[in-house]
Amino acid sequence: MSEWSKSSWRAKPRIQMPDYPDQEALKAVEEQLSRFPLLVFAGEARRLKKHLGAAGRGEAFLLQGGDCAESFEQFSSDAIRDTFKVMLQMAIVLTHGAKVPVVKVGRMAGQFAKPRSAPTETVDGVELPSYRGDIINELDFTSNARIPDPSKMMRAYTQAAATLNLLRAFSTGGYADVHQVHAWTLGFTESEKAERYREIATRISDTLDFMSAAGVNADTAHTLQTVEFYTSHESLLLEYEEALTRVDSTTGKWLAGSGHMIWIGDRTRQPDGAHVEFASGVQNPIGLKAGPTMTSEDLKVLMAKLNPDNEEGRLTLIARFGAGSVGEHLPRLIKTVREEGANVTWVCDPMHGNTIKSSSGYKTRPFESVLREVREFFGVHSAEGTVPGGVHFEMTGQDVTECTGGVRAVSDEDLSDRYHTACDPRLNASQSLELAFLVAEELSDRRAAHKDKIAG
Ligand code: PEP
Ligand code: CO
Repeated sequence: MSEWSKSSWRAKPRIQMPDYPDQEALKAVEEQLSRFPLLVFAGEARRLKKHLGAAGRGEAFLLQGGDCAESFEQFSSDAIRDTFKVMLQMAIVLTHGAKVPVVKVGRMAGQFAKPRSAPTETVDGVELPSYRGDIINELDFTSNARIPDPSKMMRAYTQAAATLNLLRAFSTGGYADVHQVHAWTLGFTESEKAERYREIATRISDTLDFMSAAGVNADTAHTLQTVEFYTSHESLLLEYEEALTRVDSTTGKWLAGSGHMIWIGDRTRQPDGAHVEFASGVQNPIGLKAGPTMTSEDLKVLMAKLNPDNEEGRLTLIARFGAGSVGEHLPRLIKTVREEGANVTWVCDPMHGNTIKSSSGYKTRPFESVLREVREFFGVHSAEGTVPGGVHFEMTGQDVTECTGGVRAVSDEDLSDRYHTACDPRLNASQSLELAFLVAEELSDRRAAHKDKIAG
């Protein structure tokens, strides 16, 4: 086997990556980026790895969420604030249900490059290369817009840096005070259909009041007013990733400095491909998407390549089979993990296996299917005696109409109102929070069942 280096992926088969027509311009961008500051620090990535290890053992729970594709045009501080805020609200609700810390990881500050199901797109008889995310080309349906342009990597870097700067400020600047966050949550439960959620919210309020009365408040307890918030994205555009990969002086190991956690997509997880090669050599926590075509043999090889030392928290398996298919695929992959004695953190992505075309022509995801897949995921884990370690959502804090359903029901006809995604349909703020309440119920049922088992 040849030695890993940050550029060893270049000798492997690559798919889902652009062929830049201007190679000189590409080299210049890579050269410049490779001198820029890293966006995240190695110590942070190691800390996240510890948290993910805890999630794998059932001692923490991962909430990973954000845009399918971050966009240059829709970049704004309000959008970042709103997604951050909704994720904190969800985390409080989940903490209450799970009674374990919730690890918060945004699909943010680097989630720009997209794999596509087809290399070209045809509209009214005109065929053009597919849109591959703002870091590569543009969504506009013109031949110019679809040319891969390396200078877009500079803009993506700048946007990611600004996003992280704001997230870091929000995380420590008082904005994350648990009492504040909870006040927002109550707003959501005004909806008439939300009686069940209102009850949980009241219970959380009571707990906070009790803690305050007992002298545990933001002034006395630092942890009540700050949060740890991590970033993640699909490590798809390897020229960008390589340029931001450096040796960490504390450990002498390589770090992908573009985000705390990086993941390998379901389309680019070939064991001998470029994407697996790149991820195998960096010390970050790695996500691996597993769809219905993931074979046990592939999983075995991938676990050995990506986590040869069987380190806890290193490998997160993100299952995305689709509602109705979890029972067919998850048990066989759990069996493989068990046979290998491998440490993994199991996470459910109930988005990517549930995309349909609505009657109004929009790509959408029914809230019901998303919830059903989450429930199937929990069901299989409880039957197998394994740990459901977290959830992964495409979501936004904005009031968009991209997924159907939820307590403030979005219908097929409503989709055209505020359909803003650059790629896949996202849960809006209300749908995201509702899902958190429902996942919290699953977690608290699971805890109750576990207690019964111990008592019995
Ligand atoms: C994604 O997470 O946006 C994605 C493309 O997922 P997958 O690789 O699971 O299809
Ligand atoms: Co997506």
